Amino acid sequence: MVAGRIPQGFIQELLVRVDIVSLIDSLVPLKKAGSNFVARCPFHAEKTPSFSVNQKKQFYHCFGCSVSGNAIGFLIAFKHLGFVEAIEELADFAGMDIPREASADNTGLSKSELSRLFQVMEQVANFYVKQLRSSDHGKKGVAYLKQRGIEGVIAQDFLLGYAPENWRILLDQFEQHELVQVGLLGINDKGDYYARFRNRVMFPIRDKRSRIVGFGGRVLDDALPKYLNSPDTVLFHKSREIYGLHEVIKANARPLRILVVEGYMDVLALHQLGLTYSVATLGTAISQSHVELLFRFSPELVFCFDGDNAGRAAAWKALSVVIPLLKDGRVVRFMTLPQQHDPDSLVRDEGAERFVDRMVYAPIFSDYFFAHYENDLKATEIEIRSRAIKEVRAYLAQLPLGAFRDEMFERLSGFIKRQVVDSDSDLAYQSQQKTYRRKSPRPSLPSLVMAMLLQNPWLIDIVEQKELDLEQLEFEGVDKFISILQVITEYKPANCGLLTEIFRGHADQAIIDKLVSLDLLIPEDGVEVEFGDALDKLLVMARAVSTDRLLVRAREKELTPEEKKRLLQMLADK
Ligand code: UTP
Ligand code: MN
Repeated sequence: MVAGRIPQGFIQELLVRVDIVSLIDSLVPLKKAGSNFVARCPFHAEKTPSFSVNQKKQFYHCFGCSVSGNAIGFLIAFKHLGFVEAIEELADFAGMDIPREASADNTGLSKSELSRLFQVMEQVANFYVKQLRSSDHGKKGVAYLKQRGIEGVIAQDFLLGYAPENWRILLDQFEQHELVQVGLLGINDKGDYYARFRNRVMFPIRDKRSRIVGFGGRVLDDALPKYLNSPDTVLFHKSREIYGLHEVIKANARPLRILVVEGYMDVLALHQLGLTYSVATLGTAISQSHVELLFRFSPELVFCFDGDNAGRAAAWKALSVVIPLLKDGRVVRFMTLPQQHDPDSLVRDEGAERFVDRMVYAPIFSDYFFAHYENDLKATEIEIRSRAIKEVRAYLAQLPLGAFRDEMFERLSGFIKRQVVDSDSDLAYQSQQKTYRRKSPRPSLPSLVMAMLLQNPWLIDIVEQKELDLEQLEFEGVDKFISILQVITEYKPANCGLLTEIFRGHADQAIIDKLVSLDLLIPEDGVEVEFGDALDKLLVMARAVSTDRLLVRAREKELTPEEKKRLLQMLADK
């Protein structure tokens, strides 16, 4: 489970982003067979293909030589790489950068060192506030904010400050090395220290736990660069943080929707005019970690973009980032601004009410997506239609399984007036059943339950509904069952490939991989019922085992009062 210096969150994101089918296909050409992709196994000599890759599970398995694993495991085995090398290779394949600095939980710093750094940030922010309010130089900052229409309360709520030209006064209060560690001081080629922020209005950036992790700073005139941000440090990762989230949650822990804009000033103006559910990315394109973070607080995200070509391109980029995360119940809208406006100017210009109208009626994901393809899907030329169909299917294939995905495929079918088969649903189930039935013996009941759970991590909901008393459970392999439950509850993995990654290096890894590889031959829409039945049977069995054990023990020695009570209760329930 140890990931060295690469943050676990990144590995998880990588495994969500990469499709194991396209990865393996680029090295070992695959053919579609039922709901799997197959090839002659690259790990042993054979004439007929028994190597199979399952897109839904994000997992490969050879029925001939029993090798199996996720995308990382495949690269390790196929290219004889180490774990870190495999991650690097996979990141390359996905076009992602491995975060260089370690994350806050993996910084090499002790808890007390970290909390000292957070304290420094808090104190520096307060120092900047004081500079704004009561220093001579700070007056320039106040005048600038006034001129931008920022009211006092907003400046207060967002802890706006001013970084003076003379930065050496910071050294009266803080240790030089601490200021370096949090990114406020840099060192130049000559070895001299310099302050990153001078003569700028300062915007503290808080993480979701309200700790100040970085700053943004704006010049007071037209000088460049207009904005500076803290560099990535042990506390701050620009690509993960969101400006204004702390203030949004403070206003409402469960907002109906969150509006995502680009700039610091946009967030301030929107909050000031009552849209207290507005946040901004820090001058970077929206990422999957941003989106996952925001969906934790609200089921609906509205992305706001400029009305020009760059804005349209950014919107499409956001759309492709968000697709794999659109589980049932999550809503995304795309709001396009009139030309020459940003949210700050527009909301001040036309007022909050009209702005909110635009937002509420902004095209929803499904409409926005199909509007983009509508002309091509309706084209009279078969070539254009089929190109569009191919592209649409490739996007829709990235949607998580669920009703939304089904509906989107349905809508595509409507455009082309015939059924489009969703290759991941179970229509191919029967052919697969014929191929593998002989080879997979029926597993034991506990294995079956664990395999179903591993292959469909969302079934954890059903387990949770049963409110099991884990300490009282007794059956063969119960420890594994419990550790699987714990891992799924903690990590909420999006697919099996991700889940098995968490067990890498664990004593149970081999067993887990085997259970994931099992072909259960259960159609998609039967999984929930079958799992519920199997789980109930398992619980009955566990109870019987537990009762027998107590009865045996009772013959040998007096039971404790608690054991007696349990035994009586179990016999009564029988
Ligand atoms: P914009 O250039 O759209 O500026 O940058 P803005 O937010 O409208 O700023 P004002 O109204 O001129 O003050 C949008 C965001 O991009 C990032 C900042 O986060 C900014 O809020 N940015 C912009 C930078 O990080 N550096 C820059 O030099 C410019
Ligand atoms: Mn602006």
